[in-house]
Amino acid sequence: MTAALTHLGLVFGGVSGEHPVSIRSARTVVSALRRGANAGRYRLSCFYIDPWGHWWPPAVADAVLERGLPARREDLPAAPLRPGFRGFPEGALDVEVWLPVLHGPNGEDGTIQGLFSLMQVPFVGSGVLGSAVGMDKQAMKAAFAAAGLPQVPYACVEASELEEGQEALLNRLEQQLGYPCFIKPANLGSSVGISKATNRAELLAGLREAVRHDPRLVVEQGVNARELECAVLGCRSMQASVLGEICFDADWYDYETKYSEGLSHTVIPAEVPAAISDRARTMAIAACRAVAAEGLARVDFFYGRDSGELWLNEINTLPGFTSQSMYPMLWEASGVPLEDLLHRLVQLAQESRQPDALSAEAA
Ligand SMILES: Nc1ncnc2c1ncn2[C@@H]1O[C@H](COP(=O)(O)OP(=O)(O)O)[C@@H](O)[C@H]1O
Ligand SMILES: [Mg+2]
Repeated sequence: MTAALTHLGLVFGGVSGEHPVSIRSARTVVSALRRGANAGRYRLSCFYIDPWGHWWPPAVADAVLERGLPARREDLPAAPLRPGFRGFPEGALDVEVWLPVLHGPNGEDGTIQGLFSLMQVPFVGSGVLGSAVGMDKQAMKAAFAAAGLPQVPYACVEASELEEGQEALLNRLEQQLGYPCFIKPANLGSSVGISKATNRAELLAGLREAVRHDPRLVVEQGVNARELECAVLGCRSMQASVLGEICFDADWYDYETKYSEGLSHTVIPAEVPAAISDRARTMAIAACRAVAAEGLARVDFFYGRDSGELWLNEINTLPGFTSQSMYPMLWEASGVPLEDLLHRLVQLAQESRQPDALSAEAA
């Protein structure tokens, strides 16, 4: 007699600028779940969230994965008129463990984690709190600061300050941070809406650009630094991978540099002193604890070229999983191949989020 296979629901796509990246991540994850030992562990069903927020069953999801591109309206059988979640497609209510392969808003930010929590079905990755805090740069920085973790000097800005007290705002930022500085919407990813300013005119233009994306902004002192990343895996006990470095020729790692082939490359393991690598790995786990991230996270650092200082930049609670993505590559280099990594992530979800385990803890 064979043990029943765990019914794993992989959900991808999503209402986010990172929809196309999610499709690429999902393709990589699906092939690793369908080969080797995983083929005998899981019954995998894929579900697709189209750019309008409607959920589609495996037949549609598999076709999107096959094509590798977001669905167009005409590819989808009779989509509901109103955007947003309109209910589950067939098969979704039988899923035993959810694997969200979604990036950015509506996937990495606690919203879908809230849905799975309400359903009391285990899911891979951080819960509502860790996802939401990790996504919002203001909240994330406040949590890091409260944990005493080193960050570059920064200031929080609200859109209303730009409308009502522009002069005072510019004066405050110049005094607190100076130039160059980076202006960032709090809730996006992929460098969207981010700009670098080297004078007052650019600062104002950058603020105006950023508030088009989000009324909550962060402005940071610009540093001349190398960019290091570390992958974290685990819940109660967490492990940190070797470090990787992102190298590029551009002035900073903007959208074009991030997503154009050949403009950046990764070095794994990063060529840094052992003391820096040790510090970063310890800080990566501390960063996860600070925001309540669980399961998996990629933690990014700035490593000062002149000062040798190490600053925490950000945490990503659902990092990219494409074949070129840092998170799976860091684990591969740390001795955990993608198939094993995914199996471990599902196990972690089952261990920590079973409703039974939760109520046993409460008792
Ligand atoms: N304070 C800073 N000093 C120097 N470069 C920065 C700073 N903040 C951001 N950058 C550059 O901008 C990129 C994107 O910023 P980041 O905060 O990582 O946003 P995202 O969440 O979109 O990845 C970084 O990878 C880095 O190249
Ligand atoms: Mg980043």
